[in-house]
Amino acid sequence: MITLNNTVIAEDKAYNMQVYSPEEIIFKQADGMYLIDDQGKKYLDFSAQFSACSLGHNNKELIDAISSQMKKIVSVTSMFVTQERVQLAKTLTDLAPYGLTKVLMGCTGSDANEFALKTAKYYKGGGKIISFWRGFHGSTAGSAAATGKSETIQENPHIAELLPRGFLHTSPPYCYRCDFGKNPHHCELQCLKYLEQQILNDSSNNVAAIITEPVFAAGGVIVPPNGYLKELRRICDRFNALLIFDEVVTGIGRTGAMFACEHWEVIPDILVTGKALTGGYVPGSAVITTKEIGDVMDKLTLHGHTHSFYPLMCTAASKNLEIIQRDGLVENSRIVGAYLNKRLKELQTKYDVIGDVRGMGLLQGFELVKNKKTKQANFELGDMLFKEMLKKGLVTELESRKNLNNVVIVLHPPLITSKKDVDRCIQIIDASIEACSTNIHYK
Ligand SMILES: Cc1ncc(COP(=O)(O)O)c(C=O)c1O
Repeated sequence: MITLNNTVIAEDKAYNMQVYSPEEIIFKQADGMYLIDDQGKKYLDFSAQFSACSLGHNNKELIDAISSQMKKIVSVTSMFVTQERVQLAKTLTDLAPYGLTKVLMGCTGSDANEFALKTAKYYKGGGKIISFWRGFHGSTAGSAAATGKSETIQENPHIAELLPRGFLHTSPPYCYRCDFGKNPHHCELQCLKYLEQQILNDSSNNVAAIITEPVFAAGGVIVPPNGYLKELRRICDRFNALLIFDEVVTGIGRTGAMFACEHWEVIPDILVTGKALTGGYVPGSAVITTKEIGDVMDKLTLHGHTHSFYPLMCTAASKNLEIIQRDGLVENSRIVGAYLNKRLKELQTKYDVIGDVRGMGLLQGFELVKNKKTKQANFELGDMLFKEMLKKGLVTELESRKNLNNVVIVLHPPLITSKKDVDRCIQIIDASIEACSTNIHYK
């Protein structure tokens, strides 16, 4: 007998391109920390849907703000001014690090990064863009070229023809698997010494910008060592390059600060935010920069989208930011995130297959290995575990790529996550590793 569930899945396969190879689960409803499928089964959402759903699902206050904006005015292009865009720009510049006082609003993280890269090229009069292996910046041409976490778009020679040239990738601060074989406690930031040498050896010596995520998210939750971002800032200053922080994941409270760069007191020239900016309920992103750079960009008419500065997104973002501040959710991210990290480290002592636990605030990850000694990436377990956790009602994100030789389960739940939610999540991870271990003997 064909059930409704099977019909919908078959029709989805027939009519929709399966770009993310979707799981055979149909979500119909959601509430707070939970997604509910068409069979009524509840799933604890520790992915916040690619880290966007910061207030959790079905937040009434945010929905009310969006619906009343819908009834007032929805669609106005960037050819005109609205009160909503002024309000959001004022809020964002108040929250942003010192000196970042001008804003451009976009639709996705990719188009915001695209604009940040254009800004660097235009403002600096050309020059290379330097980015990091394992970094992720989006799927449009420029943002995909900056991405160093090899994707099909870069691996496919035909699609790669679409990518602009002039990008240089360098080594990330991935201390668990240091490209230089160094011990992080005595490395003297060898990776940045290498980067400096790369710039000096490059014939043009001309760098428009260095772009990085302060904490690499999709690349496997890579937290830089103390002093790293300060040194990166110094290198940018030495070579007269702009520093772009892609805070599309790490921004808006995710790491326990409004923006992750605050942890190290490093101020970029351009800061990019997206995803959770609007609580994930409508698409939206923003680029925040200095007055000097912003004023130069005023003259540019080659960037904009029909929905840039969209009033609906401005209202969603303003309300989301208001709730986050009023309810102390950045603080919650810091406290509950530290608790999640502690609980994951307990699991690490129990299982030889958890090689490393890393993260800040409610952006945490654990790396799966065959055993702690060899640190060999455990791809088989990654696939099994992700599915087992789903089966047991926990949604996470699996970052697993053979060419990057790492498998990391990434957890970035909504900022409303409680310690009780963490306990439930840990219980499911624990039971799932046990279940997988009976099939493969890695325990
Ligand atoms: C750090 C980072 N930057 C940019 C993007 C692209 O954002 P979007 O998918 O909204 O285009 C992503 C998406 O995952 C991301 O993780």
